[in-house]
Amino acid sequence: MKVTVVDDDIFATIAATALLAGLPSGGPTLGVATGGTPMRVYAELASRSRRGEVDLSGATVVALDEYVGLDADDPRSYAAYVRTRIADPLGIPSPNVHVPQGDSADPVAAAEAFEQQIAEAAGVDVQIAGIGSNGHLAFNEPGSALDSTTRVVELSEQTRHDNARFFGGRVEDVPRRAITQGLATIGRARSILLLAAGSAKADALAAALCGPVDAAVPASVLQRHADVTVIADRAAWSRMA
Ligand code: F6R
Repeated sequence: MKVTVVDDDIFATIAATALLAGLPSGGPTLGVATGGTPMRVYAELASRSRRGEVDLSGATVVALDEYVGLDADDPRSYAAYVRTRIADPLGIPSPNVHVPQGDSADPVAAAEAFEQQIAEAAGVDVQIAGIGSNGHLAFNEPGSALDSTTRVVELSEQTRHDNARFFGGRVEDVPRRAITQGLATIGRARSILLLAAGSAKADALAAALCGPVDAAVPASVLQRHADVTVIADRAAWSRMA
């Protein structure tokens, strides 16, 4: 596991550079987390793309998760996040963008179809991941089986509370269920770039990287992956000393 601890002002630059270094040329497959932490990294990629410094228009993008009940046009959906912050700015055409179908009438079938889609694809070259304040990875909440695959999950109260900021501060508006790639699914990526910023992640990050590999801290499964890079700011790293 490689670790880089950075000052906050260079977090996005360092993360974008690490990501690009891990992508093969041609048509790479990029696994993307959503949420607050990687937003500035995607903005940095978009800037580099506008300046003509990178060309990811041939990439395929695969999301980690989606809320059940939100359609792709809902601005709070991860489909909208991936489209507006990643695919559109980087010029990636929509057939190359894959997000679980949150508004499916049959979310269980949609989850299985997404797992199948990932299994049939060439494989994720670099998976960008974040960590929840409760140690979740994607929406694999504490207690998720380490060998889990894509499925419908119940979101924890902690996660719904943490994500209320994307729903106008109203926790009651945060969906109760999501479709998430499982821990085994995520583990099939060739490399993983884990991003952690802010003191709210400090305990979870320390438990994930230094504690036992255990379903109680789903992100601890990353200890078993052969190619993980962690980029953390000083606040997120503060419990590691
Ligand atoms: C989102 C995802 C989540 C987030 C995590 C951290 O696609 O998979 O695991 O990465 O909840 O979210 P932020 O960055 O908003 O703190």
